[in-house]
Amino acid sequence: MIKLITIIGARPQIIKAAALSRAISNYFTTQIEEVIVHTGQHYDDNMSAVFFKELQIPQPKYNLNVGSNSHGQQTAQMIQGIEAILINENPNAVVLYGDTNSTLAGAMATCKLNIPIIHIEAGIRSFNKQMPEEVNRIITDHVSTLMFVPTQKGIENLKIEGFNINTKIPYSNNNPGVFLCGDVMYDNSLYFSKVADKNTNIIQNNQLIKNNYILATIHRNQNTDEPARLNAIFESFITIANQHQIDIVMPLHPRTHKLIQTNLKYELLQKVLNHQHIKIIPPATFIEMIALEKNCFLIMTDSGGVQKEAYYFEKPCIILREETEWIELVEIGAAIVTDTDVSKILEAYQKLSHLNSFNDTKMYGDGKAAEYICNEIIKHCSLKISSNN
Ligand code: UD1
Repeated sequence: MIKLITIIGARPQIIKAAALSRAISNYFTTQIEEVIVHTGQHYDDNMSAVFFKELQIPQPKYNLNVGSNSHGQQTAQMIQGIEAILINENPNAVVLYGDTNSTLAGAMATCKLNIPIIHIEAGIRSFNKQMPEEVNRIITDHVSTLMFVPTQKGIENLKIEGFNINTKIPYSNNNPGVFLCGDVMYDNSLYFSKVADKNTNIIQNNQLIKNNYILATIHRNQNTDEPARLNAIFESFITIANQHQIDIVMPLHPRTHKLIQTNLKYELLQKVLNHQHIKIIPPATFIEMIALEKNCFLIMTDSGGVQKEAYYFEKPCIILREETEWIELVEIGAAIVTDTDVSKILEAYQKLSHLNSFNDTKMYGDGKAAEYICNEIIKHCSLKISSNN
């Protein structure tokens, strides 16, 4: 039996973990035992607990309850807690997702104990090291033993950083295995799409008209913490809502909710809070989010995951950042990067409002990334176990 420790902590990686846990419980229970560690980076029910229930993720055996803090303190507390658990559990490998501080802490604690790291969503780059996530994923990739890469672009990124894409087993962190596997979030979106079709209360409860509202999400610290950027984003929302008489629904991350109070100009904040077309709602569950995505007209976001989900459900997307890791979306014309420039946002809206077809390419795999990953883990870890005996 292969023992994997999965480390999660922030909303997107809790959702990503659902795909692998589902594949393990459907097909690999006799070969893989998964122990889940929650760092507690996200702790509000609607940022964490709700996903365990809704996506049927096994309950974490450990919760470090680190909560919010400066990045240094938060990461340090996680490293300390994870190290103690790894020593106690002695797993064959540790599974890490994406690029959050929980990912970085997992990578640091694990590599120092010489335990193999399996990085899911490896190779993704924004080429902007001002983003905490960019630093976290680069470091994690460079100490990993198995790298599961969602896109061809990710493979190219790793080649540029000197990774040999054709390594052979036995893999190690000096000779990592690199696999193009598709996106586990595509697995999840396909799997939960039908469930979302039967759970559309969020559309009715907010009086949204199908295919006639915009879905917007904002949570990146570059946007929330810089008043000029946050004001520009909300000014563009007001302009679009006024010009097109269209609703904009915004499930708001707790950090954005706090920061609009202090960082938006008083007049703009009042307009936003009292606008008949601007609907600020609490963070949505994953299934609610899919329902909102499937039924909207267009998406505006600074989230990486939501950009891809827009594409999965054939909705055009305005990316409210300086760059994107998912550059293939821009290359096929499904998304436009506008940063927080009001005139670029308005121009992109005009252009994307008339987009009526999507290239049906399989840019993010076949919806079975998690099964593929499990099979590769079994191949690698079985070899490692037999060579240790
Ligand atoms: C983290 C990830 C980001 C990911 C995002 C998804 C890092 C560096 N960033 O950002 O990549 O896209 O999660 O949501 O790891 N807060 C609450 N309740 C919570 C969690 C956070 O109120 O349950 C508030 C706190 O004020 C906190 C702030 O949000 O200080 C930021 O939380 P944090 O976990 O540091 O980063 P995120 O912005 O959520």
